[in-house]
Amino acid sequence: MEKYPGKKNTAVFISGRGSNLKSLIKHSKKKNSLIKIVLVISNNPDAEGLKYASNSKIKIYGNKNKSNFENKSLNLLKKYNIDLICLAGFMKILSGNFIKKFSKPILNIHPSLLPKYKGLNTHERAIKNMDRFAGASIHKVTEKLDSGKVILQKKVKILKSDNVRSLEKKVLKIEHEIYPKAVDKFLTNL
Ligand code: GAR
Repeated sequence: MEKYPGKKNTAVFISGRGSNLKSLIKHSKKKNSLIKIVLVISNNPDAEGLKYASNSKIKIYGNKNKSNFENKSLNLLKKYNIDLICLAGFMKILSGNFIKKFSKPILNIHPSLLPKYKGLNTHERAIKNMDRFAGASIHKVTEKLDSGKVILQKKVKILKSDNVRSLEKKVLKIEHEIYPKAVDKFLTNL
């Protein structure tokens, strides 16, 4: 019998540490979560998160070869019947061709209150602009960077005493809280 009947087969793409991956794996093991993580893919074979996934008995694939990363990944996504991709600290931009060929939803977590601060160095920019709030967003991935429909956002206050490191820490904490919620919210409303 299937261990998690009715759950969506999910692949998580990472590039490094994988703390959001960990929070998604933890969530996926709950009886009432809507995802089953069956594959973790990285464009960095040394990504710390791959070791964690492998220890959690999840299939992993690491490939830093730019020219065949997408095609090899597409083959695996098909092989494992993946219904949903969650990008979690995946620092490579997926091509329009990949998004079209996969043809199922792709979600991403971004460390800013989108549409503010697309791209890199989000916390640095928020502090420099003396914003009162920073935060994180989960959004659908489209061909346009960090621009798809926002599914869930949460903000945190930027204190005068905050620096990039302290803000990153605060935002990361809410990332771990909202990514699992956003995934289930998205799947419920499909
Ligand atoms: C997270 O803060 C995530 O929001 C960010 O990378 C970090 C990955 O941490 N993603 C982006 O900047 C995507 N543009 P993690 O590997 O510990 O989850």
